[in-house]
Amino acid sequence: MNLVKANSASISRAAEIIKNGGLVAFPTETVYGLGADGLNSIAVAKIFEAKKRPAFNPLILHIADKSWLKKFSDIKNEKIDRLIEKFWPGPLTLVLPKTEIVPDIVTSGNTTVAVRMPNHSVALQLIKECGTPIAAPSANKFGHLSPTEASHVAKYLGDKVDMILDGGKCSVGVESTIIQLHENEIYLLRPGGLSKEDIEKEIGEIKTGVINPDKPNAPGQLPFHYSPQTPLKFFNKKFLDEKKKIGMLFFKENKIDFPFAGTKFLSLSGDLREAATNLFSMLHELEKENFDLILVEPIEEKGLGRAIMDRLKKATNKYNV
Ligand code: TXA
Ligand code: MG
Repeated sequence: MNLVKANSASISRAAEIIKNGGLVAFPTETVYGLGADGLNSIAVAKIFEAKKRPAFNPLILHIADKSWLKKFSDIKNEKIDRLIEKFWPGPLTLVLPKTEIVPDIVTSGNTTVAVRMPNHSVALQLIKECGTPIAAPSANKFGHLSPTEASHVAKYLGDKVDMILDGGKCSVGVESTIIQLHENEIYLLRPGGLSKEDIEKEIGEIKTGVINPDKPNAPGQLPFHYSPQTPLKFFNKKFLDEKKKIGMLFFKENKIDFPFAGTKFLSLSGDLREAATNLFSMLHELEKENFDLILVEPIEEKGLGRAIMDRLKKATNKYNV
């Protein structure tokens, strides 16, 4: 496995790998991405293979400069321009009508493409040196927890990537918010690191819900996702069983009198931003303990709480069937 600290020399090597059609896992402010040259279909196919990801699930193109967007979408829209001005680089992905040069494998044959400019110096330097957009999903196996540290990538995909660039822990910790422009309206496809409230402050109310119910195309619209290997459920007293080793993920304090085998707190000060940053890393740590069950306290679906609850609902759904 080729796990290296990100610096200018290793970033240049990583750019060479991508330009030659290889795979590099790299840090962004949200989660680690599994990147390939977004204009090279064969390279992009390796992402699906490595992740065991279904081919109907399209990828995000990551760009290094706002001016690159027009190569991949020629849409003109005032609200979209405002959002780019205000929130790029940052945890906001835009789904827009695509231009010819975007390969079908990136968009899974859709006429739209997802684009984002990440707010992370390593990612931006890497993309700039490649001179091509980097197609990248989160660097986890399909359906598993998302990686917020290089070691998470190494554990699940270490033998599948040509290089992992270690840029430390991701500062946001949940994936980008995805919105789509559709018939002049803006829809929220996936809550994420930028809150719906912050978007609405800029451009007014946006829509939620499925645009085309026959064709789920964002993970928020698939029934389950992001799950740890250990069963995970929302806290309910009926699950407490002293014979079982139970790990508990609290929001900020422990109000339950029970001998948990392990406890973690998303944010002792009750800060949603800190809670989002810790979400996946704490689930990774709890997963490592091999408990019989992990319970999690639900939190209020406001601001970043919406993205956190979205991930937790998808993760617990796997164990409700
Ligand atoms: O923060 C993030 O967004 C991270 C980092 C690496 O940038 N990436 C990420 O990628 O979360 P991924 O592939 O795990 O999730 C992106 C989702 C896809 O699952 C897909 O459903 C949706 O974006 N998506 C991509 N292209 C789309 C399109 N044309 N229409 C609708 N949804 C799309
Ligand atoms: Mg993902």
